[in-house]
Amino acid sequence: MAESPEAIDFEALFATAARVQTFAYAPYSRFRVGAAILGDDGVVYPGCNVENAAYPSGSCAEQGAISAMIAGGGRRIRAILVLGDGDELVTPCGACRQRIREFAAPETPVAIAGPGGIRQMFSLAELLPASFGPDNLRR
Ligand code: THU
Repeated sequence: MAESPEAIDFEALFATAARVQTFAYAPYSRFRVGAAILGDDGVVYPGCNVENAAYPSGSCAEQGAISAMIAGGGRRIRAILVLGDGDELVTPCGACRQRIREFAAPETPVAIAGPGGIRQMFSLAELLPASFGPDNLRR
């Protein structure tokens, strides 16, 4: 049975993402992003974007949160929240959708937040339909 999103403390995810958004290193885009993952171990893992003078070497907030989760001993994503400024939804980039997919289920909630709170909820499958994952490697 998939977990109902009502069981998840999105306020705690928002608070963590808002805290680490302020630490983001984004001198080139000036677009700070914070992310928070609720792991299968019940721990909330933070991530922020970390840019680089060699632009393609920068990393996204979601990527940082996934690394924190794995390094912290978490193995699965129960929910993820992404927070950015501006009027548009800060949905994960294509590469991050695939990164999230590795550790999440199709129904895993992906909450997109702005400064005032959550703007829209998606499932991972809505953001990345018909995706390729570990099972597709089975022969
Ligand atoms: N960025 C993220 O960290 N996550 C997203 O979901 C969208 C974009 C970062 C990458 C780059 O540092 C900046 O935002 C502008 O693209």
